[in-house]
Amino acid sequence: MELFETMLQHTSVRSFTSQTLTQELKRKLILAAQSASSSNFLQAFSVVEITDRKKRETIEQLANFPVANGNNGEFYIFVADLNKHAQVLALHEDATDHLRTLESLVTAVIDTALAAQSMAVFAESEKLGVCYVGGIRNDLFKMKELLELPELTYPVFGMFVGYPVEKNEVKPRLPFDAVLGSNTYRSLTPALIEDYDKKTAAYYQQRSANNQQTNWSEKVRQHFSYPRRKNTSEFLKEQGFIF
Ligand SMILES: Cc1cc2nc3c(=O)[nH]c(=O)nc-3n(C[C@H](O)[C@H](O)[C@H](O)COP(=O)(O)O)c2cc1C
Repeated sequence: MELFETMLQHTSVRSFTSQTLTQELKRKLILAAQSASSSNFLQAFSVVEITDRKKRETIEQLANFPVANGNNGEFYIFVADLNKHAQVLALHEDATDHLRTLESLVTAVIDTALAAQSMAVFAESEKLGVCYVGGIRNDLFKMKELLELPELTYPVFGMFVGYPVEKNEVKPRLPFDAVLGSNTYRSLTPALIEDYDKKTAAYYQQRSANNQQTNWSEKVRQHFSYPRRKNTSEFLKEQGFIF
């Protein structure tokens, strides 16, 4: 399949067969991640592969996601990482103040996301399935302990990769016109939201697994109906960021 077609067929995969990935393919996944563009070439991310069954079970509990998966599938944690850069500065006895800013953190999170998505696109081109797991941030302090994360690091999400047991139907994205503005920002309109809600309601009703009576607006409202992960700023401060 052409790469563009493969990309439009993307759906998250949450269960994997016992077919293992070759060492060569696993190496390519990381190389694909490393090939992404990087702000000022800082390459401000690290990846931690989780193979230990007990750790996978612990992460399953805290992420509320089937991370153990019968040990099927590879599980990687993507970490925004400015610790490497702190080490470089330390070697030269330079100050690290500008490494600890919100802007530096944003830069590292962007690098991390770009690397992960490069891995994801490559994985799907190899007929693998992927799923991001933001649930690993449900208990950042536990993740820090589990991965032995040093200061100036932040675990952003997990990424599951493996051979899919099944693939879900593609979720309809926002209309093209809702995403692309010409020269200025384009807002949603009530009519556009209504149309998209109808489209997504039909998708959620008709999909072959986990049918729901809902739509995109309802999902958005539910998501923002309570504060999530309230200790993120406390965690980031503990990690040495200053904002
Ligand atoms: C950063 C990020 C974190 C995510 N975390 C989770 C998660 O914790 N659990 C989960 O089931 N899906 C998670 N997802 C998958 C999204 O729910 C999914 O991408 C979205 O619903 C669109 O569906 P699709 O990927 O099948 O097209 C995450 C996706 C992203 C980008």
